[in-house]
Amino acid sequence: MSRTTPTPSVVDAQRRSAALEQRIGADPHAFRVLTGDRPTGPLHLGHYVGTLANRVRLQRAGVEVFVVIADYQVITDRDVAGDVRGHVRELLLDHLAAGLVPRTSPGAHDTGATVFTHSAVPALNQLMLPFLSLVTVAELQRNPTVKAEAAASSRRGTSGLLLTYPVHQAADVLFCGANLVPVGQDQLPHLELTRSIARRFNERYGAGREVFAEPEALLSAAPLLLGTDGEKMSKSRGNAVALRADEDETARLYRSAKTDADRRITYDPVHRPEVASLLLTAALCTGTSPEAVAERIGDGGAAVLKATVVEAVNEHLRPLRRRRRELARDDAHLRAVLAAGNEHANAVADRTLATVQEAMGLGG
Ligand code: TRP
Repeated sequence: MSRTTPTPSVVDAQRRSAALEQRIGADPHAFRVLTGDRPTGPLHLGHYVGTLANRVRLQRAGVEVFVVIADYQVITDRDVAGDVRGHVRELLLDHLAAGLVPRTSPGAHDTGATVFTHSAVPALNQLMLPFLSLVTVAELQRNPTVKAEAAASSRRGTSGLLLTYPVHQAADVLFCGANLVPVGQDQLPHLELTRSIARRFNERYGAGREVFAEPEALLSAAPLLLGTDGEKMSKSRGNAVALRADEDETARLYRSAKTDADRRITYDPVHRPEVASLLLTAALCTGTSPEAVAERIGDGGAAVLKATVVEAVNEHLRPLRRRRRELARDDAHLRAVLAAGNEHANAVADRTLATVQEAMGLGG
């Protein structure tokens, strides 16, 4: 439900993504996905419909999945890391509750998703050094997403890590040979940089060999939901329903949602964005169209609209939340999943770093 006109590169990426979906359907085992999140708080409904459900879908289709919990990237735009360990656990719970099947052993025979944290995989982080040498400061300073994040940050200056985290992200993707990166539009510049780094590394050190394949962006087809205040959904604004929230908290949040005074409920994203987003939320949760939801509410006004959304969201999330509560009681299992993911990611990263050092003529 983006209200901005897509730029030509976005239109292009959309076209390529549609073609990619066909290739995934035909040969899922040819693809490896790397994606991830920063552990800054529990995931919300927007994450679920926008990315989490897509990860689970790709895994069920037969694509191999790597999920990075980007703990070193928490400090890109803030000084205080906060309860990172707790947030790592919440992220893991959100993924498992959503249906992602994790690997529980490190070897290649286990086809579950590899969930790992940056801080547990030193060889991945070491790729930052050669990769940084392949980009210019001007190129990093032009990145529109980094610019927007720097502007939104409460920090006075842009940290070196904020400027260079897209390079770190390239290391995430390239260390495991991922060829598919599901992204939102704002991450497209980062993926372009990842492709440049792969290309430049091959040119400079590959001696005719392709050390790194250039990954492709898979743009999310999911519509963007607004927060209950009409702004972008965000973990920190308190305007989105966390997956782990209970049914009463969900009801309270939507009861305070911004709407308008027109009792007749219509789906009009341009003139009534808040009402439209609520309709879209209910529609996504019940598998119907926002127009159909609006039609049913008719002259019921904001109160009926909100009650409709609360029921739809709670109903839709009920199985996920039940699983989440069960999983949360099994700390040993959560620890084992992360340990297996970290161990596998380390083995893969060690191999990649050895190849990189070999190509560069480094190491003993
Ligand atoms: N930067 C992403 C975010 O803030 C998280 C992330 C880290 C990521 N590494 C990645 C996303 C690699 C995709 C691919 O949400």
